[in-house]
Amino acid sequence: MKTNYLQKYRPYLHYAPREHWMNDPNGLVYFKGEYHLFYQYYPEDTVWGPMHWGHAVSKDLIQWEELDIALYPDELGMIFSGSAIVDWNNTTGFFADEPGLVAIFTNHLERGEENEPIQTQSLAYSHDQGRTWKKYEGNPVLGHDTKVDFRDPKVIWHEETKKWIMALATGQTISFYSSFNLIEWQFESEFGENIGIHDGVWECPDLFQLKAENSNEQRWVLIVSVGDNPEFDIGSQTQYFIGSFDGSTFTAENVSVNWLDFGKDNYAGVSFSDIPKEDGRRIYLGWMSNWRYADQVPTEVWRSQMTLPRELSLWENEDGFTVVQQPVKELESYFSKKIATHDTIDSEEEVKTYQVSESYVDLILNLEWISAEQFNIVLHHTEDQFTTIKIDALKKKVKLDRSQSGKVDFSDIFSSEQGLELESIENINLRIVIDSSSVELFINEGRYALTSLIYPDQACESISLSTSQGKVKVTNSSISAPVQSIEVQEEEER
Ligand code: FRU
Repeated sequence: MKTNYLQKYRPYLHYAPREHWMNDPNGLVYFKGEYHLFYQYYPEDTVWGPMHWGHAVSKDLIQWEELDIALYPDELGMIFSGSAIVDWNNTTGFFADEPGLVAIFTNHLERGEENEPIQTQSLAYSHDQGRTWKKYEGNPVLGHDTKVDFRDPKVIWHEETKKWIMALATGQTISFYSSFNLIEWQFESEFGENIGIHDGVWECPDLFQLKAENSNEQRWVLIVSVGDNPEFDIGSQTQYFIGSFDGSTFTAENVSVNWLDFGKDNYAGVSFSDIPKEDGRRIYLGWMSNWRYADQVPTEVWRSQMTLPRELSLWENEDGFTVVQQPVKELESYFSKKIATHDTIDSEEEVKTYQVSESYVDLILNLEWISAEQFNIVLHHTEDQFTTIKIDALKKKVKLDRSQSGKVDFSDIFSSEQGLELESIENINLRIVIDSSSVELFINEGRYALTSLIYPDQACESISLSTSQGKVKVTNSSISAPVQSIEVQEEEER
């Protein structure tokens, strides 16, 4: 049987595996002209199971080619999350001839119901650009006598001290280890007690430096995902800390809680390693789902997709720094401007509706607030399926309501509201990327992000704008649609 790869809900612009279950992105690395995306993968079912590393590559971060499974479970356990780096200087001794890739991952060993599982860190290396891998014969390279949650190593090269640094999720803290060869690791410090959100287990850390867009400052950023806790109706989320890192200790600048995303569907995100200096970007992507309902979402052949890759930077404001995220510029070549708009939306007049009927859409709105109490954007997927984004001037809130967006009844919390508070509503910039089964909202050039899955019968039929109790001026805005059709891959006969 030849089935078309174009299935219901399958995204055009986001990576989703051909079939079966996927969760966290792993081993994000750039090497020899390719971006590598490895990910938590269970090749036997569309729910979580013994983890492998799936693998895809891309030249532009948008269109991905799925390759063979990279890492299989072994005698040390399943292959949980981790990272990958290029060993340019053969610090490991694995690359006598030329540099290659090293994956640093968690082995998770189940030991029956009576005993706690064991989590250790292991290595694998590749001489052929990630196509085949060899596990290091000395695995594991790092374990712990008492810690049960001891996972998700993110390894970076720390230039100042000329050492590899591993950030590791260790229960309710992040531990830092250092090494000269990725094989012998030394404990440096532990961060997280009495700071940040502790509603769930800490997972998937990332540590990197970012420059501010609006000043000469730079800071270290520590991203920490917080697991689902059934006591709260929010599911899994991602927080970050801003501070300094001296090669041994991370020190947070203040104690405020920072959410990386105000939507429910961005988890376990990490950034790419080894992006060339000339490029200089810090590119991040997350798992576009939530542990609370990830195994119930209504896709049939595959489950889960990644967020759009996003370029990260910092914005300095009075209280400190905010992480800014914008879809990578490569996305632009997939769109052409279709409708340019410059209009005043007045509650006395009719709703302004723009016909779109496209498989994916990039909507940019710049709003000058005149007098309205509320500004409403309705993304009509079909005649009776829609997602609403509302800006409430009195409460200075942005809310996204997906309760009528299509299939929603697979989870109790899927329909509950998502939103955030803005500092000011005078001038607002919105970018909304709509794909077959997601809406990604970026506010004020990416200073806030809200990532949200949706399951409508089609992506977008029309978009309407309206206000209540007054006027909002829409300036310099546009609706963009596909410029080229994305290659639709045929599935092989199986
Ligand atoms: C985060 C996570 C990681 C773990 C992996 C297992 O989503 O729980 O901590 O390594 O998923 O699949």
